[in-house]
Amino acid sequence: MSQTFTKSMARNIFYGGSVFFFLLFLALTFDSMSALPKRDNSENITEQVALGKKVWETNNCIGCHTLLGEGAYFAPELGNVYIRFGNSTEAIKAFIKSRPVEGIPGRRSMPQFNLSEEELDAIAEFLKYASGINTSNWPPNIQG
Ligand code: HEC
Repeated sequence: MSQTFTKSMARNIFYGGSVFFFLLFLALTFDSMSALPKRDNSENITEQVALGKKVWETNNCIGCHTLLGEGAYFAPELGNVYIRFGNSTEAIKAFIKSRPVEGIPGRRSMPQFNLSEEELDAIAEFLKYASGINTSNWPPNIQG
């Protein structure tokens, strides 16, 4: 017995498959969107965090760093730097302040940005907020 694959069978598979995957896409989108408010740490976005984001953008930190995996791969991922620095905004501020103006010869190093105290507080609060986003520990990023 021979079976032929007809045009109408091909069409049915095409339409059936399209509808199935479109519905799957809608269901997964709905699932993601309803999970977001529990994970995005948006309740901790303060004026200071918003200012920190501005400091982050105007100094192009993302030109060297990644944040939650997005950005450049020249310098360390910063999404969980607050936790890696011992849950300390002071340690983040001290690190940024301590960068040498001339850089470190022979190795990649972070520039001195000469940020004001207000900007330092804000960028540290922004990085603290970022560390509170539940990304299921993505990207994997362990100190040392
Ligand atoms: C020109 C590239 C460059 C830019 C731009 C840059 N950084 Fe860095 N950053 C580095 C490098 C390289 C390191 C690795 C440590 C070092 O300086 O030797 C680093 C390290 C860090 C660390 C410590 C990370 C760790 O895991 O130890 C923090 C925090 C940090 N940067 C914050 C910032 C912030 C905030 C900005 C924007 C204001 C910024 N960086 C902009 C290159 C850069």
